[in-house]
Amino acid sequence: MTQPFSKLTAIRGMNDSLPGASARWEQLEALVRDWLKAYGYRNMRTPVLEHTRLFTRGIGEVTDIVEKEMYSFTDSLNGESLTMRPEFTAGMVRAAIEHNLLYDRAQRVYNMGPVFRHERPQRGRYRQFHQIDVEALGMTGPDIDAEMIIMVARLWKLLGITDVRLEINSLGQAHERAAHREALIAHLEKHKDVLDEDGLRRMYSNPLRVLDTKNPAMQAMADSAPKLFDFLGDESRTHYEGVCARLDDAGVAYTLNTRMVRGLDYYNLTVFEWITDKLGAQATVCGGGRYDGLIELLGGKPAPAVGFAIGMERLIDLWGQFQPEQTPAECDVYIVHQGDEAQRRAAVLAENLRDTGISVIVHAGAASFKSQFKRADASQAAIAVILAGDELLAGVASVKMLRQSDQANESMQQQVPLNDLVAFLKDKV
Ligand code: HAM
Repeated sequence: MTQPFSKLTAIRGMNDSLPGASARWEQLEALVRDWLKAYGYRNMRTPVLEHTRLFTRGIGEVTDIVEKEMYSFTDSLNGESLTMRPEFTAGMVRAAIEHNLLYDRAQRVYNMGPVFRHERPQRGRYRQFHQIDVEALGMTGPDIDAEMIIMVARLWKLLGITDVRLEINSLGQAHERAAHREALIAHLEKHKDVLDEDGLRRMYSNPLRVLDTKNPAMQAMADSAPKLFDFLGDESRTHYEGVCARLDDAGVAYTLNTRMVRGLDYYNLTVFEWITDKLGAQATVCGGGRYDGLIELLGGKPAPAVGFAIGMERLIDLWGQFQPEQTPAECDVYIVHQGDEAQRRAAVLAENLRDTGISVIVHAGAASFKSQFKRADASQAAIAVILAGDELLAGVASVKMLRQSDQANESMQQQVPLNDLVAFLKDKV
């Protein structure tokens, strides 16, 4: 006996985007591309699959992402370990090095698309999600850090989003982190009794991450821990102040959060997050910072870099709270018809209309006028064109305005000679 076929569903934490919702995504993507263009960013596309070692090396062995969130598998053909990208930055840097992109100039580049992390799904946290990833490669000063933050502020403005706040921090340079690390480990050793399993495990491997705990029993210990910010030398402080001054110039408000560490190990100096109270537990819409060591770490000629990524599912959710969705019309003109001859004329007319930039749906197959009009209405087309019967034989079509707002200045239905139809409709759409 054959086994019953169990119902197929999408993988947990991976979402379908159906036509209505997808229209919203397309709208957002178009807006985002214009916004990026306004700052001179150019698109780059990199593979979804990369060698696992790119991420273990780039993101860091002792991070949540690398330790437990990557979709990795062995290529059965050659035994190589491959990973579905859990973020863009490492791949963008790999590609920049591989194609020698930085040999004579700095690069402003972006990438947009799906990334994969095996996290526990909940609102705003998915296993396949999408990022807008923006990277400035080869630029060193606080001016570019600030420009990147200010450009995100502009995006909020473009989308009509107001309830986001900016937190920034400086992670200094490697030697400053090393000095702080020593002091921090001493602090953790003194409070070993309050550390949970994760804390004990990371105490020596990634002590900074121990402070990023959500465990209430560890809060007092984390609050009293030595702050990395207090270990910053003059150069790091000057860089930080340079960023702040430029944010002040632009009128972009921020708060210093000395506990912010970010979930990836490649950062130094400036790090920042945009956070909102409107998305429940997954409150960070955008995160990024400077990663001056990554290009060299991945085998490139040393070059500074800074970037950020925005979570698109979170952004769409947030945007919808400020600007409610309006499902766009499926087409401008919906053609209904009766009879074989009319159907064929409809197809020709539709092509002529599309030549002029009008979008058209021709009702497929045969159906009663009533059901065709129901479908035309549902499409939200502005205009229905009716091809049928004696009218058609006489060389005319009926044109019906379907939208309420058109009724004021248009008679609801009128006859138009077929020869004039394209010009007539072009005027109306
Ligand atoms: P990230 O903070 O790991 O940074 O991710 C950036 C954003 O992606 C988050 O702020 C959040 O909005 C979104 N996000 C993260 N995980 C999920 C998830 N499971 N479901 C839905 N959205 C999520 C990076 O990925 C860095 N590569 C950013 C960067 C670029 N730094 C420098 N350049």
